[in-house]
Amino acid sequence: MTYHILPSILSADLTCLGAEVEAVMNAGADFIHFDVMDNHYVPNLTFGPAFCEALRKRFPSYPIDVHLMVEPVDAMIEAFAKAGAKRISIHPDATIHVDRSLKLIKDLGCEAGLVLNPATPVEVLTWCAHKLDFILVMTVNPGFGGQKMIPEIIDKIPQIRALYPHIDLCVDGGVTIDNIAALARAGANQFVAGAAVFNSSNYKETIDSMRKQLGSVAHSQD
Ligand code: DX5
Ligand code: ZN
Repeated sequence: MTYHILPSILSADLTCLGAEVEAVMNAGADFIHFDVMDNHYVPNLTFGPAFCEALRKRFPSYPIDVHLMVEPVDAMIEAFAKAGAKRISIHPDATIHVDRSLKLIKDLGCEAGLVLNPATPVEVLTWCAHKLDFILVMTVNPGFGGQKMIPEIIDKIPQIRALYPHIDLCVDGGVTIDNIAALARAGANQFVAGAAVFNSSNYKETIDSMRKQLGSVAHSQD
């Protein structure tokens, strides 16, 4: 199992975003998780495509994972694909035509993900799985960084893993050094972490500790 850690810039020091992004990538992050909020689909407002393009220009080799919490979504898919996103995830209840929006992501050359909010049933994946490069399971309600994980939602992860063993399964919301191993044992292999990384005093130590936890899971599953 390949594990990936994706720090969310939502919790970075935004007065020096470039330096923060460079620091977490140098500390061993695999992707930059880029949360886009519109004060409509979620009650918060964050970064537009210009931020993504600026990061892309400064750090062309860093993979940017764009999580779109916006409604409607299709125009933003196009804008973020053009701005250099490597992968784009969307919420099924933020678009009328889920299949069409996923196709748009793929046609624009990005990897596609579908996001399940805490109360979204797993069945929403049934007729989209063939188009998905990853599934993103929200373990908090979307809109804010630094929330505590909703523990009951962990039970959703093994269900999804059993149905879709070959699709990357990413968890987003309240991931910490203390719960990352449980999430991996449940079947997740990608981990978004905002506050746990950016509020720590040493990004490398934090990411190394997360990998150490993941290493113990990988070992016990050998
Ligand atoms: C919440 C966002 C998350 C958030 C994660 O809507 O999608 O990516 O930034 O942050 P933490 O790890 O602090 O919960
Ligand atoms: Zn996110």
